Amino acid sequence: MSAASELERLLRLATRLAREAGAIQRASYEAVRTIDSKSQPNDLVTEVDRACEAHIVAALAAERPHDSVLAEEGGGSERPGATYRWVIDPLDGTTNYAHGYPRFAVSIGVECEGAQALGVVYDPLLDELYHAVHGGGAFRNGRRIGVSREGELRRALVSTGFAYDKAVTEDDNTREFRTFLKNAREVRRDGSAALDLCYVASGRFDAYWEFKLKPWDVAAGTLIVTEAGGRVTDTLGGAEFRSGASVLASNGALHAAMLAGLAAARP
Ligand code: IPD
Ligand code: CA
Ligand code: CA
Repeated sequence: MSAASELERLLRLATRLAREAGAIQRASYEAVRTIDSKSQPNDLVTEVDRACEAHIVAALAAERPHDSVLAEEGGGSERPGATYRWVIDPLDGTTNYAHGYPRFAVSIGVECEGAQALGVVYDPLLDELYHAVHGGGAFRNGRRIGVSREGELRRALVSTGFAYDKAVTEDDNTREFRTFLKNAREVRRDGSAALDLCYVASGRFDAYWEFKLKPWDVAAGTLIVTEAGGRVTDTLGGAEFRSGASVLASNGALHAAMLAGLAAARP
């Protein structure tokens, strides 16, 4: 089988699994009961995060037994030497989900020999499915998407998020938030990194930055941004964004201004 048709097969599987996990989320929305804490009291996990991950991981074990799987809630198994690695956030936006706030998604990225190969992000309430395959453009519900053209920060709608350790550290993104609050048109904090990235890809946001994310938050969305014609770096302008430690995604036109704002905010 050619590499391209293998990727098509993987895309069909990722799309199916994202839709199935999204259906689980829709079915329990506003009725979620079990809410536990993880790294911090405000770092939540619900039975729906776990059910979505179990569903995806079980399907991959059956259909892709030789692939490596990194999944947020720990259900995956890494296989050193595997050609493909799935990087999964079964429910991105858990705080929103636990509060019945309608903004959350399933995020599935696939790497081929360490390189980003495809990404799928599904918002089950809006029924919006974003996808990209490396070199093939970015799409929402099958229609091509592209980043905005805004080049002026003062006319830009930008987005960010705050890490779960914000109560116990000064390194909490508030200086950066203040900088863009003062200099951009507006700043949004809406609680799903994967959707924030897809909103940059589709021009709803002009730029997005965040610190202290994890690989599963950014695995799919960053590829969707670059395939939509945008630019993704870490917050110093380098290429180290896939760990999630810091990420800056923009329409490209605003990247220098965003980097300058981030630099100005550093102590
Ligand atoms: C979180 C969301 C949120 C971001 C957090 C993430 P989770 O993911 O993406 O927008 O600000 O830092 O951890 O925990 O809901 O999967
Ligand atoms: Ca997440
Ligand atoms: Ca999650």
